[in-house]
Amino acid sequence: MKVILTADHAGMSIRNEVKDLLEELNIEYEDAGCDGSCSVDYPDYALPAAKRVASGEFDRGILICGTGIGMSISANKVKGIRCALVHDMFSAKATREHNNSNVLAMGERVIGPSLAKEIARIWLTTEFAGGRHENRVNKITAYEENES
Ligand code: RB5
Repeated sequence: MKVILTADHAGMSIRNEVKDLLEELNIEYEDAGCDGSCSVDYPDYALPAAKRVASGEFDRGILICGTGIGMSISANKVKGIRCALVHDMFSAKATREHNNSNVLAMGERVIGPSLAKEIARIWLTTEFAGGRHENRVNKITAYEENES
């Protein structure tokens, strides 16, 4: 699995925890986030990262900002992206099993780095359940195809 990780200036601590996790799990990744030295605009980071997942260059993306909301709204504008904004461990598992989410967004002004790391661990290691959920996800893909 290849993961693209990105963050704006408000997501530096979670970004660092997620980097530690990716190294611990021996997952190949690229950190495409800002360096935290100044205020940046989250769409400038979310959109290119989401496009690189949609193109198949990366299997998954993890996006961090203050709330996770701006990153998730931006990422979900990209065709083929199913970005889940997650701040609890139950949803981390459910969104992989049910939605086959390919991008995870989290907000550092909402949860701390330790919880974020555990959420990312669950999200990275949970498989899509398929079955009835596949049909539902296919309906989202079909909508995207028809709209474009
Ligand atoms: C930055 O102040 C903040 O607006 C951004 O990190 C994010 O929370 C937006 O949704």
